[in-house]
Parts: sequence; C-alpha cells; structure tokens
Amino acid sequence: MIKKTTITKTTPAAAKTGAAPRPEPVRPTLLLATNNRHKACEMSEILSPLGFDITTPEDIGLSLEIKETGETFEENARLKARAFAQASGLPSIADDSGLCVAALGWEPGVRSARFGGAATDEDRRRLLLEIMESGADRFAKFVTVIAGAFPDGTEIVAEGEQRGELLRAERGESGFGYDPVFYYPKLRKTNAEMTPEEKNSVSARGKALRALAKKLKKSFYRKDV
Ligand code: IMP
Repeated sequence: MIKKTTITKTTPAAAKTGAAPRPEPVRPTLLLATNNRHKACEMSEILSPLGFDITTPEDIGLSLEIKETGETFEENARLKARAFAQASGLPSIADDSGLCVAALGWEPGVRSARFGGAATDEDRRRLLLEIMESGADRFAKFVTVIAGAFPDGTEIVAEGEQRGELLRAERGESGFGYDPVFYYPKLRKTNAEMTPEEKNSVSARGKALRALAKKLKKSFYRKDV
C-alpha cells in the first residue's frame, strides 16, 4: 500500500484548542530496486533521515532479476526502477553506478560490474590495477544515476559524481566494489577507509540520492494534492 505524503489529521494541540486541522507529514515508502545488499544499506541510510521509509524486494517477497541491457547509466537505472514499480505497485528507485577511468576512455563505466568478465569484486580490482600498472594519468570518477519510477508510469532521475584517483594498491576494508582502489584527495582516504557517514556524504550515490529526494518530495506532493 502506498503511503501518502500529506494527510489531514487533527493534531493533539488542534484538538484541544479546536483550531483548524493542519496537514501532518507522512513518510512515503519507497521500494529499493536492488538485490545488492551493500547498495540497499547505503541507500537506506541516506534516504531514511530525508523522510522516506524504505522497503526491499526481500521484505515484500519479490524476486526479480533485470538484465542491464542499456548503454548508459540512466537507461539501466530507468529499466530497473520501472520493472520493480510495475511488479510491486510501489514507487521504486534504482541505482546504476560505475567507475569511469580517464586513461581507459572512461571505461569500465556501465560495464563496471562485468569488467573483463571477472567474477568477483576482488578479481575486478586486481584486473584494473594490472591494466593501469604503468598508467600515469590516474584520474577516475564514480558516477551514479538514480531513477525513481511510480506505478502510474511517471519517472524521475538524478545523477551524482565523485572525483578521485586510482591507487596502485588496495587500502581499507569498508565499502564494496572498487572502493579500496579509489582515493578521494579531499578526505585523504580511499572510499574503503571512510566511515559509512563519510562515504555517504561524498559518494556519487549520496549526491544522486539527495538530489533525487528533493525531486521525489515534489512528485509525491503533486500526486497527493
Ligand atoms: P551496478 O550499478 O550494480 O551495475 O554496479 C556496477 C559496478 O560498480 C559493480 O561492480 C559494483 O561493485 C561497482 N560499484 C557500484 N557502486 C559502487 C561504490 O559505491 N563503490 C565501489 N564500487 C561500486
């Protein structure tokens, strides 16, 4: 059941004084269209304080594997969000992210999860460091596009970017994916050396989600009034 942003409910103070009822904000529920628990965790940590309740496919017993056939982050994010919204009847948000390395012509980009056909995050990092062993230009950026899809077909998107450098060896134990090889000069840490709060405040996913949250609030408001 979709929760609404505003409902007209008499507050206790209004009940005592007999004042006109004031709308009370209610937290909309969003389905996170991902089976990646690391992403779900980060998305939930960022969205909860912004006023959204989060549910996952597992919570609602939905099992859906979407092939990422798009050529861009936006196409893939929209594909996933749309499919989960249609299957669940819930407003759904999906993230598509990747690491873009300048010296590799911004690869692996949308192909980050399948880089070199390697099976695990660890193998993909090792392969990337091997390919970049003699590379002097280490500039890299994480890009995230988040799409929000409503069951009525409305869609919105937002994008975030985190600029940094590719290290020559791994550092740090936190995070996931390419985090241990991605150095963020402003904090002098790799993403894997950051606390979850630090990563969420500077990551591409954090920036994209905060931008999307603003747009989502407007969409929920428009749908409810
Ligand atoms: P996808 O968005 O699920 O297609 O993931 C793309 C790839 O980028 C995967 O290999 C992830 O491990 C990696 N990735 C996505 N987000 C992050 C992140 O925040 N840090 C490090 N790697 C990430």
